[in-house]
Amino acid sequence: MNIEESFLKYFGCAPLGVYRAPARINLIGEHLDYNGGTVLPAAISLYISAAVSIRDDSKIKVYSLNTNNGFEVDLEEIKKDSKYEWANYVFGVFYILLRDGYKIPKGLNILISSEIPLGSGLSSSAALLVLITHLTSEIFKLGLLPIDVVKVAKKVENDYLGLKSGIMDQASIALAKENCCLLLNCDKLEYKHIPLDLGDYTFVVLKTNVPRSLVSSKYNERVEECQKGLSVLKKHFDINNLCEIEVSKLDKIRELISDDVIYSRVKHVITEQNRVYEFTKALEKKDISKLGELLNESHLSLKEDYEVSGRYLDAIQEAALNAGAIGARMTGAGFGGCAIALIKKDFFNEFKERVLSDYYNKTGLHADVVEVNITSGPELLRKR
Ligand code: GLA
Repeated sequence: MNIEESFLKYFGCAPLGVYRAPARINLIGEHLDYNGGTVLPAAISLYISAAVSIRDDSKIKVYSLNTNNGFEVDLEEIKKDSKYEWANYVFGVFYILLRDGYKIPKGLNILISSEIPLGSGLSSSAALLVLITHLTSEIFKLGLLPIDVVKVAKKVENDYLGLKSGIMDQASIALAKENCCLLLNCDKLEYKHIPLDLGDYTFVVLKTNVPRSLVSSKYNERVEECQKGLSVLKKHFDINNLCEIEVSKLDKIRELISDDVIYSRVKHVITEQNRVYEFTKALEKKDISKLGELLNESHLSLKEDYEVSGRYLDAIQEAALNAGAIGARMTGAGFGGCAIALIKKDFFNEFKERVLSDYYNKTGLHADVVEVNITSGPELLRKR
């Protein structure tokens, strides 16, 4: 049954269209977005889709084919409530749009189907937020530009869901362009698309199949540790955020920050920012081995200085290198989820086999290795 048929079965009418939004990977620049840094993510060809129709009343009715459950709320009575589970991500979009003065004249029926695994570090939640914001703007002609979609989706996360997450995920999905990564300054919200032309090489996604755990508590802890570091350094440097500090200042910073943990977090942020710039230069020069080196350095820094990697991400990164990847690193928040590896295209099958068996020997778990394309942002896939 395709999504239109499921929609008909569930809502008793045909949808007016099917929209979709992609997942994302971050090539490099991890945990920099909330430190005002520049990151380099890209959207990948794993999608969340929504079939939708306009209702005669003011209800939002939403059903997920993944969780096999649904929720409904009246537009006038939206309030975050744990009983709505995942549907808080949907209702939150309408709450923020209405709060910000947009007119939503009617309710909607929405049927969701996703091939982005939940909690895998590929931003299934940002994809859902961007998807719902985009389709609502399109259907009711709200006139949101892609950058407005980013801002609405971020407000839902921060103001409605109460998460301290940065802007990278929403931006990498809403602003995505085919075969390009997004060089995004998260402080100024300035961005540039950079063609991802790697010739015989490609990025693949490595799934640990361990759901992220402790994400929100540990994530918020890292945000606070960075804020502590920043407040010490602001007394000595003329800066607004950690990512403005040059890597050459690290020795001085070591003297200024007495707390070893805070110093390590700051060190990761500053060195990672430098790696983003080096990575961008290496992309322009198509210097594949430099790209690999930087991916590995980034992983090490996330493992040792930022401490967000963990046993399974380390095992899969190591398995990728043992299997012949040019470089590999965890991607996203960490604490489980996915890694990425840079490999030679024609080597995929052999690479996959080796990673799966090495990872299984190390952990007793089955991993997945997935080939993906670098894709564009949210779109209307089919119209009635
Ligand atoms: C999660 C957050 C992002 C970003 C990454 C780490 O995906 O949602 O804002 O902070 O972690 O780079």
